[in-house]
Amino acid sequence: MAGRFPAAWLDELRARSDLVQTVSGYVALKKNGKKYWGLCPFHGEKTASFSVDAEAQLYYCFGCKAGGSVFTFIEEMEHLTFYEAVELLAERAHMPLPEMIEDEDYEKRRTQRERLLNANREAAKFYHETLFTPAGAAALEYLRGRGLNDSVIRKFGLGAAPDRWDALTKHLTEMGFSLQELQLANLTAIREEEPATEDMPARPRRVYDVFRNRVMFPVINQFGNVIAFSGRILEKGGERKYVNTSDTPVYNKRKNVFGANLLKKERHLDRVILVEGNLDVVSLTQFGIRGVCATLGTALTPEQAQLLKRFAPVICLAYDGDAAGQHAILKGLDIFREEGIPCRVIDFPAGMDPDDFIRKEGAEGFGRLPVLTPETYRIRRLKDGSDLSTRDGKVTYARQAVAIFAGLDPLERDGYIKDLMVQTGFSREVIEEQIREEIRKQQAQAGDPWAKRDAARSPRVDPLEAVGVEAEEAKSAPVQAKKKLSEAELKLLRAEELLISLTATGRLPEELTQEEDFEDPDLKAIYLDLKKGASPASLIDQAVDGDSRSRLTRLLMTPQAGTTDELIAMAQDCVTTIRRAGYEKKLKEIQDRLANCKDVAEQIGLAAEFQAVSAQLKKM
Ligand code: UTP
Ligand code: MN
Repeated sequence: MAGRFPAAWLDELRARSDLVQTVSGYVALKKNGKKYWGLCPFHGEKTASFSVDAEAQLYYCFGCKAGGSVFTFIEEMEHLTFYEAVELLAERAHMPLPEMIEDEDYEKRRTQRERLLNANREAAKFYHETLFTPAGAAALEYLRGRGLNDSVIRKFGLGAAPDRWDALTKHLTEMGFSLQELQLANLTAIREEEPATEDMPARPRRVYDVFRNRVMFPVINQFGNVIAFSGRILEKGGERKYVNTSDTPVYNKRKNVFGANLLKKERHLDRVILVEGNLDVVSLTQFGIRGVCATLGTALTPEQAQLLKRFAPVICLAYDGDAAGQHAILKGLDIFREEGIPCRVIDFPAGMDPDDFIRKEGAEGFGRLPVLTPETYRIRRLKDGSDLSTRDGKVTYARQAVAIFAGLDPLERDGYIKDLMVQTGFSREVIEEQIREEIRKQQAQAGDPWAKRDAARSPRVDPLEAVGVEAEEAKSAPVQAKKKLSEAELKLLRAEELLISLTATGRLPEELTQEEDFEDPDLKAIYLDLKKGASPASLIDQAVDGDSRSRLTRLLMTPQAGTTDELIAMAQDCVTTIRRAGYEKKLKEIQDRLANCKDVAEQIGLAAEFQAVSAQLKKM
């Protein structure tokens, strides 16, 4: 393929390919309010959160955040590239394909990504095929020795990297990929030539495969693209256990998980199970456990948590039952709490990982494992780490435990209170008082202004101390963290609201808003395009990746409620907030400059400027 489609032709095809009709070919839609609703075809769900906006010609799923235009819908449904999706719709609409427009930059951007993904796909094929040849015999034997059957090996496309220096590099360069591309995809490494030194002979330039003599796990994302690899060593000890693809133009290890492609295919998942090891994912899947995935050589990140949330309402951490696993669980729980994502912990017997466990106890045994709430898990760990034989130990334990209980509802809390009374000897009264205190404190820290005021008013007496137990400096308790929005983020949000209401009302009045109101360059570009009359769907098709497409779609969808006047009022309100913030910032800058200014003439100038800006602010 060369060039890109002319925009006017795409607009016409879009107009002839009605989104509601196209989606109806795959999903049963029902009209409700301004939109059509149905069960999302991109993730399993029981209640309809997939919406189609006939007016804006956009779809968006509030569950998995899939969103886009009629083209992206066909891309995702039929697993096609953008070009192929356009081709298919053009055929349905009986529109002949146009002459393409040459656009080298666009082409380069697009083809580099596409070529790297193709190289990865070919590499995955190569590794997988090698597994069933003599060069892969040792790897296949290893996998079978770990109890994996051929069906699951094929399901994950597992493979073998031959024990040679450059088998893959040779194969892919023969297919037409350049060394530079293979290096970019982190499939090939190049060691540059080194001249001779006094005590070392010269070393020639050397080109070699990144993965050699390893069992290969291809990392496939939710769109079905092979984006990276994870290669496990065959023997114990020796070299690094895993070699993973470093970040490339098509792979960011912080934003992806191993197993995402299978998550996407599962329907009606009630939970995602996050494990530590690639092998755990494959093994649990073989035993019929659905929705399993793993992070790749990093601790869980907020981006991964958000990704997983799209596939099920709850995420279960099923990490190894060793000290490292326990530590990783506590860190993971923190991330889920910060992101506001419901989670649970599957607690394995000490020293067992999910793979060991399911081999020993089978899927039924796995199903019987205790699934703990984050609080229960934290309290268990806390108790394991506490010394309850001393008074100090008891106070510290009670304080920290109470900080955890504060996050529970009173019914759940009751059982823990009884346990804590037995463990520490404190009375129910004292413990409950301490819980109330803790709740006040946590609310104050989470920014509840009433709680803050209450906390300031009531002089704090620590009831645990009041009973006469010597106090010890308590570790700062985990706080119910609410996401604090920075000033910039708030402004961005307001700008987004502004855009939503302006597109919804079809009014982008000059007097209401200006280009300068958008600090974010992407939002500004959208504003300018909308003003020029671009349709929301055409903007969506220019989004560079799935994330920005999803965000943009949500933004440009027609809001459910609100009359035109209400929306205009909302926009007006946003503009005022944004401009006021701008003026206030300017005033602060002038003040700062004044404070450091020694020159009298300049001082007078600044003072005048200050007056002018404050006058503008007052006018608002
Ligand atoms: P494990 O050592 O538990 O590996 O590391 P595993 O895949 O479960 O294999 P077995 O069953 O123990 O033999 C868990 C994960 O941590 C990452 C890999 O993603 C691995 O799957 N890891 C581990 C690395 O990235 N590099 C390493 O050197 C080790
Ligand atoms: Mn493991």
